[in-house]
Amino acid sequence: MKLIQTIKELRAELDGLRKAGKTIGLVPTMGALHAGHASLVKRAVAENDVVVVSDFVNPTQFNDQNDLLKYPRTLDADCALLEACGAAYVFAPSVEEIYPEPDTRRFSYAPLDTVMEGKYRPGHFNGVCQIVSKLFLIVEPTRAYFGEKDFQQLAIIREMVRRYPFAIEIVGCPIVREADGLALSSRNTRLNAEQRQQALQISKTLFDSKEYARTHTLEETRRYVENRIDNAEGLRLEYFEVVDGNTLQTVTQWEDSAYIVGCITVFCGEVRLIDNIKYKE
Ligand code: PAJ
Repeated sequence: MKLIQTIKELRAELDGLRKAGKTIGLVPTMGALHAGHASLVKRAVAENDVVVVSDFVNPTQFNDQNDLLKYPRTLDADCALLEACGAAYVFAPSVEEIYPEPDTRRFSYAPLDTVMEGKYRPGHFNGVCQIVSKLFLIVEPTRAYFGEKDFQQLAIIREMVRRYPFAIEIVGCPIVREADGLALSSRNTRLNAEQRQQALQISKTLFDSKEYARTHTLEETRRYVENRIDNAEGLRLEYFEVVDGNTLQTVTQWEDSAYIVGCITVFCGEVRLIDNIKYKE
């Protein structure tokens, strides 16, 4: 496995491979890698001749500077994990390499990017599209892999690929969870032992709500989730939205769509955690 820090060097490596007809898989990450990221990389390794993993904490997608400063950075451990997963290249550029001047491009995919995370994190998806489009232009992958953990991000990237247009296959991968249900996240390392226990109520509530949904209306199920999180020690609900899985628009009845997902964001202390569950697919 090679660690590469410049666009020029990465392009030189990949141009040869592409000319030789090799397929290239790309897994964009911000590092602090865990088994969730590893599942994307392993899938990419299984489906492509070579795999590039980007490891870059993208400043333009952080609307909260404190969150950017506190974001964990573990490049050495990341490289060990990626080597074990079979990645060929780790691309870990500097901020100056990616943004030699401010990126003035604006991406707007309303209404996909104006709801949920888009509403609470203004500018976030603009930054995500800036970095992901640059990575697509640099790597020119055959396929790119994204987790369903960031459900809205995946939907927006599919839309960006369609509209740009990029000739890249976007592969969505299921959420990887701890044995007790908590969705893996780089931010989990910021939870203390007590908060780690409290955070468990997020996935537990979502799983229980799926059972509850069998015998209750969508509105009742929505209230069930809100009430349980409101009553859980140490948690503060930012939003819970039940949406159509393709359009991300709110649905109010189970009959409204064949693909229904519940998306939740909860603060545990000052750590912001997201999760989601598919009610219908
Ligand atoms: P990051 O949070 O590092 O996540 C990188 C990829 O791993 C994303 O596609 C995310 O959905 C996926 N992922 C994270 N936790 C997961 C889990 N528990 N199960 C399955 N997949 C999981 O998402 C980003 O970085 C950035 O926004 C990025 C796309 C790299 C652009 O900067």
